[in-house]
Amino acid sequence: MKIHDKEFIKYISSDEISITLKSIADKINVDYEGKNPLFVSILNGSFIVAADLFREIKLESEISFVKVSSYHDMESSGDVKKLIGLNEPIFNRDVIFIEDIVDSGRTIKKMTEEFKELGAKSVEVATLLYKPESVAVDLHVKYFGFEIPPLFVVGYGLDYNGLGRNLKDIYQLKP
Ligand code: IMP
Ligand code: MG
Repeated sequence: MKIHDKEFIKYISSDEISITLKSIADKINVDYEGKNPLFVSILNGSFIVAADLFREIKLESEISFVKVSSYHDMESSGDVKKLIGLNEPIFNRDVIFIEDIVDSGRTIKKMTEEFKELGAKSVEVATLLYKPESVAVDLHVKYFGFEIPPLFVVGYGLDYNGLGRNLKDIYQLKP
């Protein structure tokens, strides 16, 4: 399959993704029993993960959306920018970030610091994909679906220069 100038091959199927998101949600449902967490989906990439994960959450919970951007082309630029802020008060809230992928970890690290400054009671991360070998900061990722090598992937919300987000499966760059 071709996107822009690059060839991609299928890597993780939509069925595997659904099963995995359900199991992340099951863990969160147990860990946050009796609590009222605030989910924060980091746009653009995580909107599809957020939609599917959030519908498996049985807790009394809210979801909010923040837009940040740190990726240009196929490499994380490192300068994390917050583009659209939150409207909800964060003070004393149990916050769970929803991410499509944790790569360098800079986005989540920065967001975690900001939310702690705003007085969040706790901050955790739920991400579908996690590239532990790429992580460049000190970070704890509590909930992840798949640990993957430092591959470039698209689909299920993830893009290559704007395209590929609507693919139901996840594809990797053809080696
Ligand atoms: P980090 O700050 O380096 O962890 O980057 C996080 C963001 O970079 C993710 O939310 C994605 O939007 C983007 N990203 C990281 N790896 C990939 C990839 O393999 N394909 C597409 N986007 C990616
Ligand atoms: Mg993203």
